[in-house]
Amino acid sequence: MRHWSQARRREGASLGFVPTMGALHEGHLSLVRRSRGECGATVVSIYVNPLQFGPGEDLERYPRPLERDAALLDREEVDALFLPRREEMLPPGFTTKVVPGPLGDRYEGRSRPGHFAGVLTIVAKLFAIVGPDRAYFGRKDAQQLALVARMARDLDLPVEIVPCPTVREPDGLAFSSRNAYLSPGQRTSALCLHRALERARAAWAGGERRGAALREVLRQGIRAGPEVALDYAAVVDPDTFEEGEGTLATALALLAVRVGSTRLIDNSRLDSPAQ
Ligand code: PAF
Repeated sequence: MRHWSQARRREGASLGFVPTMGALHEGHLSLVRRSRGECGATVVSIYVNPLQFGPGEDLERYPRPLERDAALLDREEVDALFLPRREEMLPPGFTTKVVPGPLGDRYEGRSRPGHFAGVLTIVAKLFAIVGPDRAYFGRKDAQQLALVARMARDLDLPVEIVPCPTVREPDGLAFSSRNAYLSPGQRTSALCLHRALERARAAWAGGERRGAALREVLRQGIRAGPEVALDYAAVVDPDTFEEGEGTLATALALLAVRVGSTRLIDNSRLDSPAQ
């Protein structure tokens, strides 16, 4: 992989990188298209990273439709598909980890201990191997995006992190590889995430600026039932992810909801057009 990147660089190409865990959907493809539009060559990696799954999570059943993914990337005319093997990424004796800091302990980090250390460690390693000029991340994983951007800044990694809009199905459900786990009924229930975010956006547009009131709008939008359980609903500062109290000037609404056994996340900036 490194030799390939070096060769493209010698030819004068800038390198765009889209790290993924596969089971590709329109969200991933939008990152690929953005990279193809902005960079001379685009690399996509597929690696289901065991470090970012906790005990009892879905590592084993995570979808791995490799042939379909490769065909999709072929159609997008991606220049390279990087498929590192587990023993290359995590050879025996591998112990080093990237420590995310306090932002990594909130929300997703609290619900999934160790998750962000696992993400950042593998993303740092992928950056070191691929050597991209730009790396593309979706806003749907807002906390991951913020942490990767912070890691790149804190460690002076020579890569520009490019945030990209969340891509949604026509009815508003954000694309996610985990949507594949949902039964038709659960998929309908899962629309409550987008609906709750839209209600919070409407409240903001109507002049509501109190963090606690906006949080309540979110919570009310997720009606718990046999198939739906709220993990967290929060309204935070978009940069620090600290919970907004009092009157807010900017706000990012965050949701994590369990639909059946599938955990889904979504978010929306309340103070700017839908992203
Ligand atoms: O967002 C993902 O798919 C993963 O967290 C990533 C960035 C590929 C790291 O494993």
